[in-house]
Amino acid sequence: MGGALSSVPTMVSLARHCLSPAKAGPALRVLSEWTPADAPVGGLHPGDVGWHLWRDNATVLLWTDGEVPVAVGFLDHKVLRATAAPGTDLDALAADAGTLLGPGDNACDGLPIPGWERDPDPWVVLSWAPRPVSVRAQPVGEADAADRVLVQRSAFANSVFTVEGWRRMKQSPAGELAVETIVRTPDGEPAAAATGWFAGVGRCGLLEPVGTHVDHRGHGYGRDAVLGACAALVERGASAVAVVTPASLTAAVALYKSAGFTVVRENHDWIRPRPS
Ligand SMILES: CC(C)(COP(=O)(O)OP(=O)(O)OC[C@H]1O[C@@H](n2cnc3c(N)ncnc32)[C@H](O)[C@@H]1OP(=O)(O)O)[C@@H](O)C(=O)NCCC(=O)NCCS
Repeated sequence: MGGALSSVPTMVSLARHCLSPAKAGPALRVLSEWTPADAPVGGLHPGDVGWHLWRDNATVLLWTDGEVPVAVGFLDHKVLRATAAPGTDLDALAADAGTLLGPGDNACDGLPIPGWERDPDPWVVLSWAPRPVSVRAQPVGEADAADRVLVQRSAFANSVFTVEGWRRMKQSPAGELAVETIVRTPDGEPAAAATGWFAGVGRCGLLEPVGTHVDHRGHGYGRDAVLGACAALVERGASAVAVVTPASLTAAVALYKSAGFTVVRENHDWIRPRPS
């Protein structure tokens, strides 16, 4: 038998596993294996899971077909985010994922939930090719944790990030993938920070998240944090560095373009149809 139908493997025995942060290693490993050289596919890079693991109630979903991992996901507030192995039957996964989504869970990034429609508001996927950089960014160590958290909470008004959460993330199975930078003002005040994520040699890294303290915007600190994290990821062997941001965040898109990122594609979530 040949043709398109035979190129989509049929599921034999689809199972969904809920992993605690300490058990998330296998999910991170397969996400790394599925990450290509130029930009992540689907809704998740290992770094998205890594950043999720700072939360004290984090869980990670791993779908298997028999013994073989076929998808990874997690519920990010009201959004299910997932990535499937290349060539996986997305419809079977999406049908199972749909059963996870309660009335308030209104979006899915990465799987076509049956009966849902494309969100008209896009996300932009941008990618950075390695080049020499010289910036003011410093690596984030334990002594910088409180300042890293301060920047995050100022940059994102609703953030509830904590030093304990930062330590949880660093001690999780994703901790060794994290590459963080902080940029300070000439007075030593924490101004901007970026967390980068390594997915292996020859694979694309990811920035998640990036932010500048509200008191220090517009001075190039955000760009320095971004470029510092990009350089550190490339030093470890990343082939490129990607970032994914809502197209509506004009400051973020301007920052990434100013740092040399180019737009690779747009992504659209799947959203629950609103009652007419
Ligand atoms: C996006 C953000 C990190 C920018 O930080 P910043 O330190 O002020 O940015 P920089 O000073 O390094 O500016 C870098 C470039 O972005 C541009 N830029 C920054 N803010 C901008 C804005 N509000 N509107 C338009 N362009 C903007 C700058 O003009 C500069 O471009 P140039 O080199 O062509 O002059 C900051 O606004 C922020 O923390 N926002 C909230 C969190 C967020 O959205 N993070 C990104 C999510 S993916």
